[in-house]
Amino acid sequence: MNAPTSFSEQEIQQTAVIVVAAGSGTRLGYGIPKALVPLAGRSLLEHALDRIQLAGCAAQVIAVLPEDEAELAAIAANHPLRPHCVSGGATRNDSVRAGLAALEPGTERVLIHDAARALTPPEVFLQVLSALLAGARAVIPVVPVVDTIKQVATDPGRQPHVTGTPARDLLRAVQTPQGFHAPTLLAAHQRATGWDRAKAEAITDDAMLMEILGERVDTVPGAAAALKITTKPDLVLAESMLPVHPSKESPMPPHSGGQQPPLIPRTGIGIDVHAVADPAESRAMWLAGLHFPEDQGLSGHSDGDAVAHAACDALFSAAGIGDLGAHFGTDRPEYAGASGTTLLAEAARLVRAAGFEIGNVAVQFVGRRPKFAARRTEADAVLSQAAGAPVSVTATTSDGLGYEGTGAGVTAYATALVYSVR
Ligand code: CTP
Ligand code: MG
Repeated sequence: MNAPTSFSEQEIQQTAVIVVAAGSGTRLGYGIPKALVPLAGRSLLEHALDRIQLAGCAAQVIAVLPEDEAELAAIAANHPLRPHCVSGGATRNDSVRAGLAALEPGTERVLIHDAARALTPPEVFLQVLSALLAGARAVIPVVPVVDTIKQVATDPGRQPHVTGTPARDLLRAVQTPQGFHAPTLLAAHQRATGWDRAKAEAITDDAMLMEILGERVDTVPGAAAALKITTKPDLVLAESMLPVHPSKESPMPPHSGGQQPPLIPRTGIGIDVHAVADPAESRAMWLAGLHFPEDQGLSGHSDGDAVAHAACDALFSAAGIGDLGAHFGTDRPEYAGASGTTLLAEAARLVRAAGFEIGNVAVQFVGRRPKFAARRTEADAVLSQAAGAPVSVTATTSDGLGYEGTGAGVTAYATALVYSVR
């Protein structure tokens, strides 16, 4: 699914985003409200507002902040988005209600977003809004679940025991922003005001409220970068998804004479070409670490992820330590069928083990399919996480020319920059 790059003036005028940022961040353990916690020098609230600004999909932005929190109020007031600030309540649901109460009359669509998902890419906002504009009344971004999930019974005085295992391929983890037809959501909250405490507390997100009231809730793809920052390791993971700031790095060990030798990085290049598999073979399409369920996959010894493979070769080339064939070739059966991200993580490990740190990797994909635009940020995040360094992917068609143009195959070109840390 492609997110549109622009909406009409009216569509934007009638859309609001509510960022709930009134939580205390108990589990993060900083002793300050979570939205104030810094990530690479900017507060989580600023990161969230930056991405809402980049999405450019709403005329109204409402920030729900802890009561009497002057520092966050100042941050919001100084942000170019100039959000309308209101005070939150004791629970997330109370904070959402405070945000809804501040909606301007005539608001058609509202996106409710957790400031704790500070790095949610703008594309996710665009996808949610386009689904609403296409007629959905409730839309949530979701990602597949990696863990097996068990249902348990918690009888008093006994260890919880397993009562069932839902089929994992039907489970999804839910992210934000959650998008709604605003009048429907307001009516749903109105109806829930009379509920007793136990019933009200069982409602953990707005989509659930809509479900209970019999409204259909649609899903769009979420993103790895939209992780909810809850504990300290989440903050470290989120930081690894941000571009590396060169001034924060100290790649050179101090020189004995007190001077640093000039930093001379090394560049590398990698190219990978894969044919699209014969339709009779029915292979899954994996590219840039992502699954594209609507496309026929690429042929190859591994999953055929040309983008990840080109990135690996560029890294090996930059470090001067051989190539893909040498490290993961057909004589290494343990890599048969390995995913692109597995290979990229291993290539990055080998490069570091050879005494280099990675500056960045850039990949240009050329092919007719899959359609890449709506998932580019997701691809960057997944590959960056695998490499432990910024990876950016760009994509183009070949204007109908060559095997990329007919759809018979794809090409990926990559460059990488590494520098010695020895
Ligand atoms: N939130 C809110 N008002 C509350 C509680 C939570 O606006 N009373 C917001 C948080 O700021 C966050 C989102 O809801 O953006 C999700 O909540 P969570 O991740 O649980 O954040 P905190 O409540 O701040 O963290 P903790 O539960 O560890 O205290
Ligand atoms: Mg909480």
